[in-house]
Amino acid sequence: MLYLNGSYMPIEEGRVSVEDRGFQFGDGVYEVVRVYDGRPFRLDRHLKRLQESLDGVRIPTPEPVEKIAEVCRELVRRGPANAQIYLQVTRGAAPRSHAFPGDIRPTFLAYVREVRRYPDEKSFSLVTVPDIRWSRCNLKTICLLPNLLAKQKAVEGGGDEGLFVREDGTVSEGTSSNAFLIKAGRLITHPAGPRILDGVTRVAVLEVAADQGVPVEQRPFLLAEARKADEFFMTGTLTEVMPAVRIDGEPVGDGRQGPVTLRLRAAFRERVDKECRG
Ligand code: PDD
Repeated sequence: MLYLNGSYMPIEEGRVSVEDRGFQFGDGVYEVVRVYDGRPFRLDRHLKRLQESLDGVRIPTPEPVEKIAEVCRELVRRGPANAQIYLQVTRGAAPRSHAFPGDIRPTFLAYVREVRRYPDEKSFSLVTVPDIRWSRCNLKTICLLPNLLAKQKAVEGGGDEGLFVREDGTVSEGTSSNAFLIKAGRLITHPAGPRILDGVTRVAVLEVAADQGVPVEQRPFLLAEARKADEFFMTGTLTEVMPAVRIDGEPVGDGRQGPVTLRLRAAFRERVDKECRG
């Protein structure tokens, strides 16, 4: 089920102009919200980040935030119980010109699709990729080509996810997930800021780590540190908390899902159950 510029329709019936700036320039922003048993997880946080992305790239808000929330709730009612909601806003259709059109009518769409949780035994193998993205990765824009190329390189290298490494050797995040390492019982992750997307799942995991008494350091860390970590894991709306047991083919720690990661995953799921399943 799709909502496009004011109407609900089956997803195949959605039509957007070939001059839409999202299509021609990647001139747009997006969100992915997880739905558990018919309840969206932290919808408010996603809508706040959508607003930050819109403001960051100067696209006018297509609908009042309460209307966007209502669209999400309606899609949840019409969609599968365990799903993702994809939201996208572009700067709309206009004759092609790099500068913004005078009269901006944003294209707003949202749709819902089924999602299944990864099996518990699934772990990621990571493949490192140079982080060639721009310096505003906190904005969730649809200009994802560097992420796509990195993910494809990871998949072609036999991995599950690409791990972005900056020129100075620091690890920023995954192509669609945030990165965490555990060393001597401490949880270390890149601080929020323009170099990463501040994941909704990332924030939830930091909360459960505090609840669990796991000390947290939010600071940049080097790939060399990641390789010597006891445990490593990735987080994201679709990824949830995913153990990462190999980096470029080499095992992290003993190459198995780590105990702290599993504890945090269990605590994260409890948090989801509490918020979405009452
Ligand atoms: N991606 N980092 C990047 C670059 C991302 O694209 C994502 C999410 C995350 C994790 O953020 P969150 O926990 O809010 O999902 C981190 C979505 C899921 C996607 O592009 O499909």
